[in-house]
Amino acid sequence: MLVVGSDHGGYELKLAILELLQERAIEAADFGTDGSASVDYPDFAAKVAGAVSSGEAQLGILICGTGIGMSISANKFAGVRAALVHDEFTAQMAREHNNANILVMGGRVLSPQQGKKLVEIWLDTEFEGGRHQKRLDKISAIEQKVIKH
Ligand code: RB5
Repeated sequence: MLVVGSDHGGYELKLAILELLQERAIEAADFGTDGSASVDYPDFAAKVAGAVSSGEAQLGILICGTGIGMSISANKFAGVRAALVHDEFTAQMAREHNNANILVMGGRVLSPQQGKKLVEIWLDTEFEGGRHQKRLDKISAIEQKVIKH
C-alpha cells in the first residue's frame, strides 16, 4: 500500500500522481491536502511518514512547493528514508542506492509530466543491496543511537 500527501504547493502535482497510480492499478491512499488553500506541510509529512514508519504503508509520496520541507519533516520518523528527487537520475538512485521508502518532489519545480516520470522510475527500479544495504544499516544504527539519547 502506498500513501500520498501534499501541501497546497504540491496539490496540482499530487493530482497528476494519483492519476498515474490509478492508471497503473496501484493501491494508494490520499492523505490530503484536498485543495489549494494554504496549509502546513509538516502536518501532511507526519501523516504519510507516520504510516510508513509504523508499517501501515510500505511506500509514500510527499509533495510540497520545493520538496524541501516535506523531506526534512519526513526524515524525522524512524525507519523512513525520504528522498527529494529532481530528475530521472536522482529518482533512479533514490531506489537503487538508497532504497527510499518515501519519494519527495517539488510541485513548483517539476511539471506534472516530469513528476509522473520520476514516480514511474522510482517504482520500477530495484534496490541494488550489497554495499548499499551496509550503508542503510549504518543509517539505522545512527537512528537507534539518536532515539536512545
Ligand atoms: C509553501 O509556501 C512552501 O513553503 C512549501 O510548499 C514548501 O516548499 C516548503 O518546503
